[in-house]
Amino acid sequence: MALLELRNLHVALEDGTEIVKGVDLAVNTDEIHAIMGPNGSGKSTLAYALMGHPGYQITDGQILLDGQDVTELGADERAQRGLFLAFQYPHAIPGVTVASFLRTAINAIRKARADGEDDPIPVPEFRKQLMGAMDELKVPRELAQRYINDGFSGGEKKRVEILQMAMLQPRIAVLDETDSGLDIDALKIVAAGVRKLAGPETGTVVITHYQRILNYVEPDYVHVFVNGGIVEEGGPELAHKLEAEGYEGFSPNGGGES
Ligand SMILES: Nc1ncnc2c1ncn2[C@@H]1O[C@H](COP(=O)(O)OP(=O)(O)OP(=O)(O)O)[C@@H](O)[C@H]1O
Ligand SMILES: [Mg+2]
Repeated sequence: MALLELRNLHVALEDGTEIVKGVDLAVNTDEIHAIMGPNGSGKSTLAYALMGHPGYQITDGQILLDGQDVTELGADERAQRGLFLAFQYPHAIPGVTVASFLRTAINAIRKARADGEDDPIPVPEFRKQLMGAMDELKVPRELAQRYINDGFSGGEKKRVEILQMAMLQPRIAVLDETDSGLDIDALKIVAAGVRKLAGPETGTVVITHYQRILNYVEPDYVHVFVNGGIVEEGGPELAHKLEAEGYEGFSPNGGGES
């Protein structure tokens, strides 16, 4: 039984337009999967649907987490079960600091794991964890007291996404283009964060256009995503091939090169 399993997943926009057209994917602990595909192919739509974003309707198929069907669950319940998405375009939440956001999120997960009993993390322990993670990911400490993503630079937003991931210790982490807009030092830090998390408790899905991040986070599996579906799968060598040849050889209906 895979940690995360997508079975024939179809996702439509609110107006009914189908964007994701039948995706099968199994992600286990200790595995890093890369999903690579051209602009507008539906990668972010797939990620949003996985997280339970209300603007994206699952019209067919299933999402299983630890063998349990979570297709009908809300985003908060999925997060409590250990799903995490680092957004391609993180939103600002004026009035909510990074530190308070993280503490609230951690406490929600702790409460769910304690069968609904409040079990808040002691403040000194939280501070210690937060400062440790910030130092490790080289996130400036002053960001902890700023409103989340409000006026953050592109690179700061991405680092704070990885900070969230490090603090929440998800079981499945989906990183949507977390590498874009990062300078080379930040890219290495983000990649190190991903490598550290991926392990016996966690599986990772890295959505990206470029081979660049995959030089630092070697994927076990690469999935080529074109026009709403996975059209080819392979190992890390497939990412190199894409980098060299682009997506043109992949037809939307499967079958690889035409
Ligand atoms: N909320 C929305 N409203 C209207 N159209 C949408 C919405 N979300 C996605 N789409 C459309 O669905 C298609 C797939 O978009 P999506 O963001 O999933 O692509 P992507 O593969 O992540 O692209 P990129 O590589 O540029 O990030 C696009 O044509 C996009 O315009
Ligand atoms: Mg996208």
